Amino acid sequence: MTRDAHDAHDAHDVHDTHDTHDIHDAHDAHDAHDAHDAHDLLMKNSSINKMKTIKRIGVLTSGGDAPGMNAAIRSVTRAALFNQLEVVGILRGYDGLINGKFRNLKSRDVSGIIQTGGTILKTARSEEFRTFDGRKKAYDHLLKENIDALVVIGGDGSFKGAGIFSDEFDFPIVGLPGTIDNDLYGTDYTIGYDTALNTVVQAVDKIRDTASSHNRLFFVEVMGRDAGFIALRSGIATGAEAILVPEVNTNLEQLRSYLEKGNKRKKSSNIIIVAEGDDAGGAYEIAKKVKDDLSHYEIRVTVLGHIQRGGSPSAFDRVMASKLGVAAVDALLEGKRSIMIGFMNREVSHVPFSKTIKYHRHLDDSLLRVADILTI
Ligand code: F6P
Repeated sequence: MTRDAHDAHDAHDVHDTHDTHDIHDAHDAHDAHDAHDAHDLLMKNSSINKMKTIKRIGVLTSGGDAPGMNAAIRSVTRAALFNQLEVVGILRGYDGLINGKFRNLKSRDVSGIIQTGGTILKTARSEEFRTFDGRKKAYDHLLKENIDALVVIGGDGSFKGAGIFSDEFDFPIVGLPGTIDNDLYGTDYTIGYDTALNTVVQAVDKIRDTASSHNRLFFVEVMGRDAGFIALRSGIATGAEAILVPEVNTNLEQLRSYLEKGNKRKKSSNIIIVAEGDDAGGAYEIAKKVKDDLSHYEIRVTVLGHIQRGGSPSAFDRVMASKLGVAAVDALLEGKRSIMIGFMNREVSHVPFSKTIKYHRHLDDSLLRVADILTI
């Protein structure tokens, strides 16, 4: 593993994330027409929204589902009810907002879900919400439903949409980090990551049994199209012989020579963890590239795929989701908006959407070093 990718580190200190007003720089995607319409609407709506006390909040899940999203929905719902607020669940993410798919949530509606994977509200990646017309429809439904604020549970794409919407319509939104990728700036953990990691570890342990029995070399592909968090930690936890992540340039020559050395040392099995977004390709592609030079190895490829997204959330994800859900409602009641509620250095963090969109979270250097020392 080479370290070239680490020169990409930006110097932004996470402690400055408590500035919740910096919402303007992330919206490059707007075209001028959208911005103009948005400005008019903003002027019309800002006085209404600023004066409004929050009485009724909406909650939705967006983007790829993650274990623990249900625990987060439960927490937001019960924290809101605890504060005498009404709660409305919005179905299928932003699509449900655009199409008016709402469902009132009471305490009993979120019973028995803390232990379940997926999301009872369903989720989607909404194309229509990328357009101003789609967002305007969504805003009209929110007004009709008397919803005063939103909690969006999702990843960076969902926060990008939330930031644009909140800016255009001056609408209070806070986000909860829900993605198995753990790649959001300003939080040490995202809801779902711990469970996915444990799913991968269990699967790779099983692969190790069969790999050792046959003296085989396995390439195991894990999720993470832009980020290697799942790959790095699962690789360390399973004693993988090599870990290939998008953040670090993959040197296939180096990999071949490592594997040669392993062969000479008569290692009984080799497991290479490949993040799906690795610069050298996915697991199948890499296996194809190296197989001719490693003809003494019997090579197999396993792509773990969506199994990583399902399943009952770990205790850690349940507690994290519960804690952040309560913090999201607290933040809205304190008048905060356009922020993600994260967890950083053992404390709840408030991170402006603009920063979660603009900056990338980096792999932990000390863990990369551990991987370098312990692999092969
Ligand atoms: O962002 C979560 C994630 O699971 C990624 O790790 C993966 O690349 C992607 O979603 C897969 O998306 P889809 O379920 O749309 O194929």
